[in-house]
Amino acid sequence: MKHILIDCDTGIDDSIAILYALKSKGLHVEGFTTVYGNTSSRQAAENTLRLIKLSKCGYEIPVALGANENLEGEYGPIPTHIHGDNGIGNVELPKSEQKLLEESAPDFIIRKANELQGDLTIVALGRLTNIALALVKDPRLPYKVKNLVIMGGTINKPGNVNPYAEANIYGDARAADIVFRAGFHMTVVGLDVTTETYLSGQDISTLEKYCAEENRDIVDFIKSALKFYFKFNYDSTGIQDGCVVHDPLAMLIAENPSIGEYRMIRAAVEYESQEFRGMIKTDERFISDYSHDEILYCIRVDSELATRRLLSVF
Ligand code: BDR
Ligand code: CA
Repeated sequence: MKHILIDCDTGIDDSIAILYALKSKGLHVEGFTTVYGNTSSRQAAENTLRLIKLSKCGYEIPVALGANENLEGEYGPIPTHIHGDNGIGNVELPKSEQKLLEESAPDFIIRKANELQGDLTIVALGRLTNIALALVKDPRLPYKVKNLVIMGGTINKPGNVNPYAEANIYGDARAADIVFRAGFHMTVVGLDVTTETYLSGQDISTLEKYCAEENRDIVDFIKSALKFYFKFNYDSTGIQDGCVVHDPLAMLIAENPSIGEYRMIRAAVEYESQEFRGMIKTDERFISDYSHDEILYCIRVDSELATRRLLSVF
C-alpha cells in the first residue's frame, strides 16, 4: 500500500483521480493540499471535502488550503469553460461537515513528509506552487519524500496553452522550474501520454452497468461531470463523446509505474520568456557536473490497461 499526499486544483479530471485514489486498495491517502488552477484554491478545497464524503472511504483525511496565486502573484484566468463555474462541471455534491486544517498547505506537506520518514509519495495534479513554497521552507524535502509524481508538461506533443506548454506548468512556470531542479525522485506524466489515453461515453455506460451498488453515487457524479468535460473535449479536439485522461493517469502511474515506459531526462522549465513560458527544457547529454536533476519522463503507457484499471475500482 502506498502512502500518498494529493496536491490538486480539484476540477473534473482531478475529481476522478481523487475518487480513484480513495477507492483503490493500493493507495492510502494521507491528506490533500489545494491550489488554484481549474478553480480557486478555496473552491478546490470545498470540492475535495465533498468528494471525500461522496467516496465513503471510511477514514478521516485532512485537507489543507494552499496557494491561490502563482509565485509571480498572478491569479486566473479560471477555465470555467472546461471545468464549470464550481470546478466540477456545475454538479452540486452534498456538503461535508469536515473542516479544513488550520495549517497551511506547505507546512502540512513538510509535516507529512517528516512523519512518514521516506515513505510518502506526493501526487501533484495542478500547478506546483505549494510544492515550491514547501521547498523554500524546507530545502531537504526532496530527500524526505519517496517520489513526486506530477501531471504536467509536454515534450513531443503540442502544448494546451501555447505551442510548447501544458497548463499546470505554464500556470506557475517559476514554481515548476524550482521543483524540477530540487532533486526530487520525480516522475512526470505529461501530454505525451495523457492525450493518448481516453475515456468514452461507452466506458461510462459499461461502468454504470457493472459498478458496485455502494459506488452508484460516485458513478452518477462521474457521469454528470464528464458530460460537461466531454463537451469541452469535443470543442477543443474534435473527440466525439469522450475525453483525454490527464490527472487520473498520473494517479494510476503513482500507484503502479509499470503501466508506463520512461526516459531519464534532466530538465528545467522556462519562465522568463513570454513566448516560451512553461516549456520544458531537456538536456540528455552526459554531464558529470550538471545543474539539472534527473527525472523519469513518461513516454508511453498501456492506455487500455490504464482505463480498465481506472474504472475497475468503482
Ligand atoms: C491539467 O490542467 C488541468 O485543467 C487538468 O486538471 C490537468 O491537471 C491538464 O493540462
Ligand atoms: Ca488538475
